[in-house]
Amino acid sequence: MQREAMFPPRPTVLAQQILAGLLRKGDCVIDATAGNGHDTQFLAECVGTSGSVLAFDVQPAAIAAARARIEQAGFSGSVEFILESHEWMGKHARENSIAAVMFNLGYLPGEDHGRTTETTVTLAALDVAAGVLKQMGGMLSVICYPGHPAGATEAAAVEGWMEQQAAKGWRVAKYGAIHTRRPAPFLCFARTGDNR
Ligand SMILES: C[S@@+](CC[C@H](N)C(=O)[O-])C[C@H]1O[C@@H](n2cnc3c(N)ncnc32)[C@H](O)[C@@H]1O
Repeated sequence: MQREAMFPPRPTVLAQQILAGLLRKGDCVIDATAGNGHDTQFLAECVGTSGSVLAFDVQPAAIAAARARIEQAGFSGSVEFILESHEWMGKHARENSIAAVMFNLGYLPGEDHGRTTETTVTLAALDVAAGVLKQMGGMLSVICYPGHPAGATEAAAVEGWMEQQAAKGWRVAKYGAIHTRRPAPFLCFARTGDNR
C-alpha cells in the first residue's frame, strides 16, 4: 500500500526535494551542520563520485555519527568531514565554487542540547557561504527553529539576512506551516544570480 505524503512536508524533506531537482553530478557542495549525516548522505548521493561534499560540525559525536552513516552508504571517497565551526568554511572552499550549502540549525537530537547553533556565528557563516557559493545559481538552504526563545531570535536574524540577499538580487523563498500551537520550523531557500 502506498503511504500518503505528509502535509505540509517537513522543512528537512522540502529542502532535499528542492535541491534534488537542481544539483548535478560532479557538483561541489557543503553540509554546514552535519549532525547525524542525513543531509551529508543526501548531498553525496546527488553529486555522485565525481562530486564532493564538505561536512562541518563542532561536535566530535556528530562527526563520528555522520562518518559512520557515509561509510555504511559507500560514499567515503567523496565526503570530507571537518570538525570545525561552519564560519570557517571559507578556509576549505574557494570563492564562487560551491553549488549548494545546507544549514539545519539547532541542536543534534539525542546529544548535548547546549551545543546549538548561535545567532552571531550563524550570521557570520551565512556571509561566508554567500562568498563561496557560485554567484550564478548557487543554492542556500537554511532550516530555522523558532519554537523556543533562542531559536526564535536566530530565525528572525536569518530571515532578515535573507531579505538583504533578496534586495541584492537573490531569489529567496520561505516555507513553513502557519497557525500552529508553537511557531513551526521553516525553510529559507535562496538562489544566487539568474541562471546556472
Ligand atoms: C539539527 S542538527 C543537524 C542535523 C543534520 N543535518 C542531520 O541530517 O542529521 C544541528 C547540528 O549543528 C551543529 N552545530 C552547532 N553549531 C555549529 C557550528 N558553529 N558549526 C558547525 N556545526 C554546528 C550541532 O553540533 C548539530 O550537530
